[in-house]
Amino acid sequence: MSVSGAPGPAGPVRAAIVGTGNIARYHVEALRALGRQVEVVAGVDVDEERLAAFADRHELPALFTDLGTMLREARPDLVHVCTPPGLHREQALACLRAGATALVEKPPALSLAEMDELAAAEGAEGPWFATVFQHRFGSGARRLQEVMATGVLGRPLVAICHTTWFREQEYFDVPWRGRWDTEGGGPTMGHGIHQIDLLVALLGEWTSVSALARQQARVMDTEDLSLAHVTFASGAVASVVNSVLSPREESYVRIDFEHATVELTHLYGYGDDDWRVTPAPGREEAVVNAWKAGESGVSSGHRAQFAHVVRALGEHRPPPVTSSDSARTMRLVAGIYASAFERRTITPADLAAGSPFHGRMDGSGPRW
Ligand SMILES: NC(=O)c1ccc[n+]([C@@H]2O[C@H](COP(=O)([O-])OP(=O)(O)OC[C@H]3O[C@@H](n4cnc5c(N)ncnc54)[C@H](O)[C@@H]3O)[C@@H](O)[C@H]2O)c1
Repeated sequence: MSVSGAPGPAGPVRAAIVGTGNIARYHVEALRALGRQVEVVAGVDVDEERLAAFADRHELPALFTDLGTMLREARPDLVHVCTPPGLHREQALACLRAGATALVEKPPALSLAEMDELAAAEGAEGPWFATVFQHRFGSGARRLQEVMATGVLGRPLVAICHTTWFREQEYFDVPWRGRWDTEGGGPTMGHGIHQIDLLVALLGEWTSVSALARQQARVMDTEDLSLAHVTFASGAVASVVNSVLSPREESYVRIDFEHATVELTHLYGYGDDDWRVTPAPGREEAVVNAWKAGESGVSSGHRAQFAHVVRALGEHRPPPVTSSDSARTMRLVAGIYASAFERRTITPADLAAGSPFHGRMDGSGPRW
C-alpha cells in the first residue's frame, strides 16, 4: 500500500507507532499477530532510551524522536497514537494532514471541541480518525448486537455499566494522570470510558444524564468517582459508575431486556465465557438458540479491533471506531461531568459548540 491514508488492495498496511510506553506493546504485538496484512514500519518517542529498548524488543525497522520527521520519511498509511491524552489532538491532526489515518488510544481527545476539529480534518476518502475502544470487538459484544437485531430479546429496559477499579495514589504520580489539562478527566474519562463506549454501542443515542462526581479518597485534580443515571432514546435507563477506589475490581455490564438478562463480568478484557444470558420464563428456547447461533471465539482486545481496522483500510472504508462513534461516547462522558458540576440534568443539546463542557470536560474550571 503506497498512498498514505488510503491504502489500495496491493501490499500490507504500513503502520507506525507513536509513544512507546506501556500500551504500545499491545499495539505492536496485535499488529504482528495479523501477519502479512500489516508491516510495522516505524516507532516514535521523545524518550530515546525507551524508544531504543522498545525497538530492540520488537524489532522496529526505523526510529524517530519527532513525529513530523517520521511522517515525512516513513510515509505510513496508519499511525497508532499511544501517547498521553493531552497529545492526541495535535498528533492525530499532524497524521491526518500528512495523509495518514490516525488510530488513537482512548480517550481520543480532551474535549468535544477537539473531536469536532479531528472530524473536520478527515477526508471523505481518507485519511480517517479512529479510536481504540477494543471492547466493541470481542465476539460476545458482536453476538449481542446480532441477537438484539433479531428482536428475540425484546426492548432493552434497564442497564448497569459499572467500572469499579482500584488505583493507589502512586498511580497518579505519573505527571499526565489525574489532571484535566493532560488526561481530560478521572475514571469517567480514563477508565470507565471503555464500558461507557460499549454501552453506547449497544444502546445507541442517549437523551439525558444526571450525575455526581467526587474526590473521595485520592489526591488529584479530577474526580476519583462518578455515578450517573442515563436515559436512552429507546427508553432504556442505565446506571453508570466509574471508580478507581474499589479494592475488589470488576467491570460489569448488564442489560435487562424484556425477554432476557444479558451480563458481562470481566476486568480488562473478556472472552465468551464472561457472558451470561438468563432468559425470561417461556423464552428459554428462543433466547438460547439465538445466542448460540451468534459469533464466537474472539476475545476483546487490541488484536480484535485491529483486524477490523486493517480490513476496513484495505476496502477503502473508515476504520472503526469512527470519529462520529467516538464523539457519541465522548458526549456521554461530557454529559456526566456537566451534570455533576452544574448539578442538573443534562441533554445532548446542553453540550453544543460554545457551551462550557464542549470545550473542556470540567467546563470552565475547578469544581471542588
Ligand atoms: N486501550 C486500553 O486498554 C489502554 C490501556 C492503557 C492505556 N491506554 C491509553 O494509552 C495512552 C498511553 O498510555 P500509556 O500508559 O502507554 O502511557 P505511557 O506514559 O506509559 O507512555 C506514553 C509514551 O509516550 C511518549 N511520549 C510523550 N510525549 C511524546 C511525544 N511528543 N511524541 C512521541 N512520544 C511521546 C512517552 O515518552 C512514553 O513513552 C493513553 O491515552 C492511555 O489512556 C489505553
